[in-house]
Amino acid sequence: MLGYKLLPALCSIGFALSAATSRHDCPVADVSVIAHTGESVGTEVVHNDVTLYVTGKPSDRAVLYLTDIFGIQLLENRLLADSFGRAGYFVVAPDLFNGTPSTLDLVDMTPAQRQSFLAIATPEETDALIGTAVDYLRNVKKVTKIAATGYCFGGRYAFRWLSGGTGVDVGFAAHPSNLQNSEITAIKGAVGVAAADADSAMPPARRAEIEALLLNTTQPYTLSLYGSVSHGFGVRANVSDPRQKFGKEQAFFQAVRWFDAWL
Ligand SMILES: *[C@@H]1O[C@H](CO)[C@@H](O)[C@H](O)[C@H]1NC(C)=O
Ligand SMILES: *[C@@H]1O[C@H](CO)[C@@H](O)[C@H](O)[C@H]1NC(C)=O
Repeated sequence: MLGYKLLPALCSIGFALSAATSRHDCPVADVSVIAHTGESVGTEVVHNDVTLYVTGKPSDRAVLYLTDIFGIQLLENRLLADSFGRAGYFVVAPDLFNGTPSTLDLVDMTPAQRQSFLAIATPEETDALIGTAVDYLRNVKKVTKIAATGYCFGGRYAFRWLSGGTGVDVGFAAHPSNLQNSEITAIKGAVGVAAADADSAMPPARRAEIEALLLNTTQPYTLSLYGSVSHGFGVRANVSDPRQKFGKEQAFFQAVRWFDAWL
C-alpha cells in the first residue's frame, strides 16, 4: 500500500506526464490511514515519571498529541494518534491526567464537577506534563520539528504551546475548551482549528470572536466548521453516522494537511 506522503508526489508526476490526468487520479487523502476501530499499535514509555503513548515510525518531524479529558487510556485517542503515525509522523501523547482521566466530558459536568476537575488538571500541572513529552521528543528522540494537535481539553494546550520558544512549531485544535483570548493572541506559529456546529463550549458568537482574534495574530490560520457534529467529534464521533464519520475524518486530514504545509 502506498504511504499517504507518497501520494502527492506520484500525483504531481502524473500531472507532468499527462495533462489529461483526472482529478480522481490525484487523491488528496488516503482514507485508509485513519482507523476508527481495532487495536492500537503504539507502546507506552515512561520518561521522567510521565507515561507517554508513543506511535509512528521514527522521524525528525513529530506530532505531540494532546488528548481530550478521557486521556491516552481512551482507545479512540490511541487510534487517532496511530493514524497520525500512518500519515508519516512520529507521535507522542502524554498522559495528561496521571493515570486517572475523567469519565465525564467537561461539557457534561455540573459547574462543581468541572471546577474540581480543573482544580487538579491546572495549566501549571498540564504544562509540566506536556513539557516532559516535548523534552522526550527533542532530547531523547532528537526530533527537530513538532506539531501539537489537541482535542477539547488538550486543544487549549495546542495554543498555549504555540507562544514561541516552547519547542512546538505548529498547532491544531479540534473543539478546544477553556481557550483564553490571551492564549490566542500569544501564538507565534501557524494554527488550524476544527469546530463543531453543536458545541456549547464554542457557540457561534465565541467562534466569531476566535476568528477575529486569529485574524489579528497575522499568523497562518484556518478555522473549519463541520456540520451535524458535536463537541468531541474529532475523537469520539459516532462513525455509524455518515455525517459524523465525515467530520471526524476531515478534521484529521485538515490537521495532517496543515502539518504537511507548515511544519
Ligand atoms: C484586532 O485588532 C484591531 C486593531 O488593533 C482592534 O481594533 C480589534 O479590537 C482587534 N480584535 C480583537 C478581536 O481583538
Ligand atoms: C450512531 O449513529 C447511528 C446511525 O445514525 C444510530 O443509529 C445510533 O443510534 C448512533 N449511536 C449512538 C450511541 O448515538
